[in-house]
Amino acid sequence: MKLARFSRLGFILAAAGSAVGLGNIWKFPYITGEYGGGAFVLIYLITVLLIGFSIMIAEMLIGYLGRRDTVTSFEELAPRNKHIWKLGGFQALAGLFIMIFYSVVIGWIFNYIITSLSYLPASVEEAETTFTTMLHSNFWIQLFYHTLSFAFITYVVHKGIKSGIEKLNYYLMPALMVILGGMFIYATTLGGFSKAVDFMFMPDWSKVTSEAFVVAVGHAFFTLSLGMGAIMTYAASLPKDANLVKSAFWVVFLDTTIAIVAGLMLFTFLYQYGSGPAKGPGLVFISLPAAFYEMGILGNFFAVLFFIALAFAGLTSSVSLVEPMIQYFIDRFGWSRLKSSLSMGFFFWFLGIFAILSNIDGTKEFLTWGSKNFFDWVDYVTAAIMLPLGGLIMAVFVGFVIPESEVEKVVKPQLKWAYKPWYFSLRYLTPVAMFVVMLSLMGII
Ligand code: PHE
Ligand code: NA
Repeated sequence: MKLARFSRLGFILAAAGSAVGLGNIWKFPYITGEYGGGAFVLIYLITVLLIGFSIMIAEMLIGYLGRRDTVTSFEELAPRNKHIWKLGGFQALAGLFIMIFYSVVIGWIFNYIITSLSYLPASVEEAETTFTTMLHSNFWIQLFYHTLSFAFITYVVHKGIKSGIEKLNYYLMPALMVILGGMFIYATTLGGFSKAVDFMFMPDWSKVTSEAFVVAVGHAFFTLSLGMGAIMTYAASLPKDANLVKSAFWVVFLDTTIAIVAGLMLFTFLYQYGSGPAKGPGLVFISLPAAFYEMGILGNFFAVLFFIALAFAGLTSSVSLVEPMIQYFIDRFGWSRLKSSLSMGFFFWFLGIFAILSNIDGTKEFLTWGSKNFFDWVDYVTAAIMLPLGGLIMAVFVGFVIPESEVEKVVKPQLKWAYKPWYFSLRYLTPVAMFVVMLSLMGII
């Protein structure tokens, strides 16, 4: 079967589109707030450079050498024990699982785009009521927007790599950067900006706990889309002459820059108009709309633009979350792209209904086990276990299973002197770090 190929720029935009998501604009600012600012940011940055960047190259390499869906790529590249190694490819399931809540959150964002046109909450308390009312009692609104998100994503992926995914990213990624860039420039003119800079870049080491460290490492993974085969699947459609190291550099650079720009901008607005940084997961849906309200006439305009940018970020990540499994059924079972896209879409749409119900009064009681409801469990199992495990498998696979000569042939000319340190870090540093992160996140250490 002949795969449509990305152009080189198209690949970088699509991989950056995958990486830049809800993780950057919603999660990064709020965990930075929670774990104390500067020192946390520094740990995250070091992790991205030392571990994230090297796994990004490794994951791209598996896709680039394998040229197939994730399962077949693992199978074909393993010289021995093919049946065991091909299990690594089923990491791609994590993408469908993530979609169960990702699509619901994109639905909330759609809802906020529409409501922010004419309404903003006058206080943080009011904002909290608005958000929790939607979350706990408004099943139909959430289902409606979740379905819209499903329909849009499924439509795009059914058009394929070139005229679906590449095209989507060609429009949405520049638009996203222009919107965030514009709002960021406005933020730099406000008095709150210097407070935001201090908060994000002045390390206060007293706030660094071992948990902060683990969260920073885990987030580096999630934010770069590593460990589940999204980047691998895109790299399977790279042109032969593509430079993996350069591509990986751009993806890491864009993802990191956008996280920092979004963080500085949000904290500036919160210092200037709101209640300061440490506001937890409600930051984007609760504290921020209340801050936009204080902006006056510009507020609605900014709020709508902001939620549009957030939706763009979420949608370009979503297509990369479903594409690996779509590719798998096309490659291995000969399904048509339409059939595969609809089936994968239906899977996350259907389970997404339970994610919504697990927050709704009256049904949430039945969908809660232990301290977490279904929505939180899916988030937890994917981010805390599946992605780090996937990263570990990929590092070991490139470090020990693929013959070194094959790795060297592609990567050494691109990395030059840095090849040896990269290979070393992939073999020893990364597996140990990922293992520790996994155990801590599972609460074992
Ligand atoms: N990187 C995306 C984000 O930051 C999430 C994601 C994870 C996308 C894994 C694809 C694969 O939101
Ligand atoms: Na990201």
